[in-house]
Amino acid sequence: MSTLKIHHIGYLVKKIEKARQTFEALGYRTEQDTVYDDIRKVDICFLVKDGYRIELVSPVSEDSVVAGLLKKYKNCPYHICYETADYETACAELAANGFLAIDTPTPAPALGGRKVTFFSSALIGMVELLTTV
Ligand code: NI
Repeated sequence: MSTLKIHHIGYLVKKIEKARQTFEALGYRTEQDTVYDDIRKVDICFLVKDGYRIELVSPVSEDSVVAGLLKKYKNCPYHICYETADYETACAELAANGFLAIDTPTPAPALGGRKVTFFSSALIGMVELLTTV
């Protein structure tokens, strides 16, 4: 899996601004203010600390893609996002290791419109794949 580089850890939260304040109190710095993703109907912001990047994701409406996940898991980390310069090879590597794509490559407004795809593994749950450009 050498083409994969960790970009962020996705963290599901119910109240994004209060969650952000709590992370900031722990020493995180806001890297990018909250952006509304109208495709997934979520608010997203990025925080960094010690070289780690956390993405806070919060559903804005009941039909958001993560509304059901939040109900089930409450506030918690729920995916690791990997960046790749070779999207096709990374997709093949994931497929060869039992990951199934659960959506198609879709622009992410909070990431400058770069395309992301979500995959799921029965063994380790969800991962997100992000193109470098
Ligand atoms: Ni993410």
